[in-house]
Amino acid sequence: MEALEAILTRRSTRNYRPDPVEEAKLEKILDAARQAPSGGNNQTCHFLVIRNREVIRKLIEMTETAFAGMEIAEDTYASLKYAINASKKGGYVFCYNAPVLIAVANRRDYGNNMADCACAIENMMVAANALDLGSCWINQLRWLNEEPALVNYLCSLGMKAYERIYGAVIVGYPATGNGLPNRNLMARKGNEVTFID
Ligand SMILES: Cc1cc2nc3c(=O)[nH]c(=O)nc-3n(C[C@H](O)[C@H](O)[C@H](O)COP(=O)(O)O)c2cc1C
Repeated sequence: MEALEAILTRRSTRNYRPDPVEEAKLEKILDAARQAPSGGNNQTCHFLVIRNREVIRKLIEMTETAFAGMEIAEDTYASLKYAINASKKGGYVFCYNAPVLIAVANRRDYGNNMADCACAIENMMVAANALDLGSCWINQLRWLNEEPALVNYLCSLGMKAYERIYGAVIVGYPATGNGLPNRNLMARKGNEVTFID
């Protein structure tokens, strides 16, 4: 698939088949991530590639516990408010049964940590589309990136003590009729452009 087409037709997938992602495709997605630009060419992103269902289940359980203990304020971000309410009721699942969850960590004391992670995540989502895979940005581990129990658990999985999660992405085969991602072109209602000639 041509690069611009892969960018323009990338859409979020929130329903997955259980089929694993082939090793060769996953490597291409991780190459795309690692080739992303970074501030000062620092290259300090750290990709935690989680395919172990039990680890994903544990992360779901831990995020639900953390959200359930949070209170909603007047200015709470709408998606976070939903996560808190759903977690208090029980059964909150943030990664839509995808077979792969890639959590992107970076140095906590580095000013471009989230920007660098975002560049890598966008590269992964576009690469996934080009490889006929679905993907979706997953932000819950970012919201909870100072939660001590989650930090400890992620460190036990390989995250460094000086790192935190600044974003995550899920990847897998979409649970669509033909197994291909939804590639609907979506009209923009925001993202204003001003030309200054
Ligand atoms: C910073 C960021 C955080 C996001 N967090 C989530 C998330 O936690 N869960 C989710 O289902 N989608 C999440 N998304 C996906 C957006 O909801 C999605 O990109 C948007 O609705 C536009 O739809 P599209 O990706 O299909 O074009 C996130 C996207 C970004 C860029």
